[in-house]
Amino acid sequence: MGEQFKSSVEKWTSFNRLHTENNIKCLEWMKQIYKNKKDLNFNERNIVVDFGCGTGETAAYLASMHRYGPCQVVGLDISLDFIKYAAQKFRKINNVVYFWSQYLEDLEFLEDKVSVVTCFTVLHLLSSDQINQVLKFFKKILVLNGKVLVLHYLGRTNECFKIYLEIYLKLQANPKWRPYLLPNISQHRSLDLMTTELKIQCDDIITKFKKANFRLEHIDKVYKPSCQRPMNVIINANTVHTIMSNQNIRHMEFGKAYDEIPESMYEEFAQEFSRLFNLVSIAHNSQCAMLVFQKYQ
Ligand SMILES: C[S@@+](CC[C@H](N)C(=O)[O-])C[C@H]1O[C@@H](n2cnc3c(N)ncnc32)[C@H](O)[C@@H]1O
Repeated sequence: MGEQFKSSVEKWTSFNRLHTENNIKCLEWMKQIYKNKKDLNFNERNIVVDFGCGTGETAAYLASMHRYGPCQVVGLDISLDFIKYAAQKFRKINNVVYFWSQYLEDLEFLEDKVSVVTCFTVLHLLSSDQINQVLKFFKKILVLNGKVLVLHYLGRTNECFKIYLEIYLKLQANPKWRPYLLPNISQHRSLDLMTTELKIQCDDIITKFKKANFRLEHIDKVYKPSCQRPMNVIINANTVHTIMSNQNIRHMEFGKAYDEIPESMYEEFAQEFSRLFNLVSIAHNSQCAMLVFQKYQ
């Protein structure tokens, strides 16, 4: 295992804890909606595909659910590193497999065999053409009336944005820290703007699914897990990471607002950042839409 591989995968897996919690929430929501297993077409021959499975945690969770019978779960991802990692980590679970999805045409064996596709925070990373291709693929692999469960990232909450802004302004007011903060916070895109942009994308996604002969069956909103007080703050030259008490690591919103903080000052800066962070509270950090589509043709 090369060093680069290790670091990219390990970095992701630490962030991924947040994702997995959220994905499980989404699955619980779907279970609530489809209390009757017949509505989901689940039986022991069913295949569930987790598209864009990352390091495989959610696919492994799906495999262990067994709520609707022992289905087979297939995790797909475009990152070969993630697939290798997942295949190794979950090798003992016998109803989950992982495949690299660089060439969707290689996955013909799934054609018309899949009951449910889960697609959690993947589509916002794709171009319009790529989304169309992926929807074509979903349509091909799903059985008639098969479902796609989408978790789509909408953006950070304004509350979260305001809190980081408050901390930033307080640090900037201190002559000790001012030299290490970029002066013009307005360079940073406003969260209002970001949320609006991403909401439009959500509407686009619904339109695209409809064009591809899927009907929207359910839609709801979910917040990412609430943030706790930070237990620890990690600084490097221009990024601040906060580690929350539940061990989730999250990005600092104004990561690039910092400019070459000298290493000798990291500890002091981290202490000051934690102190300011502890004066405020963040209820939620980002918003997602959960959507269920059904293939009807
Ligand atoms: C934000 S992560 C979400 C991972 C996982 N679904 C989760 O919620 O934990 C996005 C994932 O989508 C994968 N991805 C991006 N483009 C993709 C594509 N065209 N096909 C398949 N996977 C893709 C990335 O490699 C990454 O693992």
